[in-house]
This record gives sequence, C-alpha cells and structure tokens, in this order.
Amino acid sequence: MKVITSIKEMQQYIHSLKQDGKTVGFVPTMGFLHEGHLTLMKKARSENDVLAVSIFVNPIQFGPNEDFDSYPRDLERDSKLAEETGVDVLFHPSTEEMYPAKMSLTAVVHSRINVLCGRQRNGHFDGVATVLVKLFNIVQPDSAYFGLKDAQQVAVVDGLITDFNFPITLVPVEIVREEDGLAKSSRNVNLTLQEREEAPRLYESLQMAKREIDKGQRNPKVIEDLIIKHITTHTSGVIDYVELYRYPELDELSQLNGKIIIAIAVKFTKARLIDNITFDVKE
Ligand code: PAJ
Repeated sequence: MKVITSIKEMQQYIHSLKQDGKTVGFVPTMGFLHEGHLTLMKKARSENDVLAVSIFVNPIQFGPNEDFDSYPRDLERDSKLAEETGVDVLFHPSTEEMYPAKMSLTAVVHSRINVLCGRQRNGHFDGVATVLVKLFNIVQPDSAYFGLKDAQQVAVVDGLITDFNFPITLVPVEIVREEDGLAKSSRNVNLTLQEREEAPRLYESLQMAKREIDKGQRNPKVIEDLIIKHITTHTSGVIDYVELYRYPELDELSQLNGKIIIAIAVKFTKARLIDNITFDVKE
C-alpha cells in the first residue's frame, strides 16, 4: 500500500493509473477506521481496479463547539487496517497541505440541509462539500462510496455530483451495526459504559417505528412520538431530533408513503449519536 501525503504526488500517481486504463474506487474518511469504513472499502475493492482511501479530519466541517480537537485519531492502526483490506493508496494530507491559505472560493449547499443535522450544524455541509470538491479533483475517482449512516451527507453528495458535473458514480452503502444494533461510529468510544448499554435503544426505536408503519400507521407525528417515548424511557440521552422525510429529497411528509427516511440524533455526555432507516412504505 502506498501512503501519500502530498497533493501533487497523489495527482501524479492517479494520472499514471488512469493512463494505464485503471478504474479508481474512492472511500473518503476521517480515519479511526471501523467495520463501517471497512465495509465501504471492501465493496469499492470488489468493484474497481484500484482502491483509494483518504484519511483527513476536515477542520472546516466542524463547528466551533464541535469535537475537532477530540476527534479520535490513530494513523498507525488505520494504515494497518487499510492495508489488510486491500487499499492500494492511502491519501493522508496535513491540514496545511489541504488548506495552505484562507480559501478564496468554497462550496455552499442550498438544499437538503435545513433539516436533520444540517439545521443545527451551520456550515457543516458546506465544509463537507468543499473538501469533497478538493478530494474529487485530487483523486478523480470513477466511483465514490458513502455510508447511509450519514444519509443526509449521501443526499448532499448526490446534489454535489449532479450540480458540479463530476463524472463520478455515487455508491450508497447500508449502515454497518454492532451485534446489538448500535450503528458503528468513531464517536462510540466517547460513550460511558452505561450510555453504551443504552445506545442500542436508538435502533430498537427505529425498528419499532417501522413495524408500526408495516402494520398500517401512516401518521408521521404518531411515529415520531413513539420513538421519542422509547428513547426517553430507556436512555439517559437527550433527543436532538426525531424526523421523517421523503428520501433522498428530504422533503416534508404529511402522510407516510413512498421512499422515506426516519432519522434520529441523541446527545449523550460526550457523544452525539445519529441513526436512521430508509425504506419504501408499501401501499
Ligand atoms: P467519516 O465519518 O470518517 O465517514 C466516512 C464514511 O464512512 C462515510 O461515508 C460514512 O457514512 C461511512 N460510515 C461511517 N460509519 C458507518 C457505518 N456504521 N455504516 C456504514 N457506513 C459508515 O463522513 C465523513 O467521514 C466525512 O464527512 C467525509 C465524507 C470524509 C468528508 O470529510
């Protein structure tokens, strides 16, 4: 596995691969790799000649009160895992390499952001879109792999690729979970022991909601209340939001039908957990 920290070197390397007619699959990450990331990589590995992964904790997508400084980092462990998973090239630029000076131009996301995490994380998706424009230009992938764990991010990337005409296929990948149902996340290490025991209740509440919809419930407010009750009864977390939308458009719903997302965010002492399910509501 090649580890590259320089943008120029990465571009030259990718250029040589493209000249050889190789297809490039790309998994952008912020590191502290877990089974969720590795699942994206395995899928990309099986569908492309070359697997490129980036590890870059992107400062401009973190708000002033968010966890940029405490975001977990472990490059040595990540490199080992990446190599074992068949990564060909690991791109790991420094902050100075990616942002040598204040940018004179950045991406601004206009739709699909005033709901869910976007509503409270002002500028977050602008930061994600901006770094992805840079990474897409550096890596020039044929396909880019994103997890539905961050379903709103997938919706935003879908808009970015379409609106900026990137010749890239977006590949959304299902959420990877722990055995007890908790969605895998680099932030799970920040849960206390008791919070970790409570955390599977989040997914449990989503499954309960889906069962009610399968049984015929079509009122989003009823579903929302059911989830809120389940989480407040069984966890010490504080609910940030419980929301239902059409997916991937993230439009409001008055009646449950078609493809929908049920998404939740819950704050624990040192970690804010998000989870969601997307599915088709049968007529
Ligand atoms: P990061 O949080 O490191 O996530 C990298 C990718 O892994 C994302 O596409 C995310 O959805 C996916 N992922 C994380 N946990 C997952 C799980 N349990 N199941 C399936 N996929 C999972 O998302 C980012 O980094 C950044 O915003 C980034 C796109 C790299 C831009 O900085």
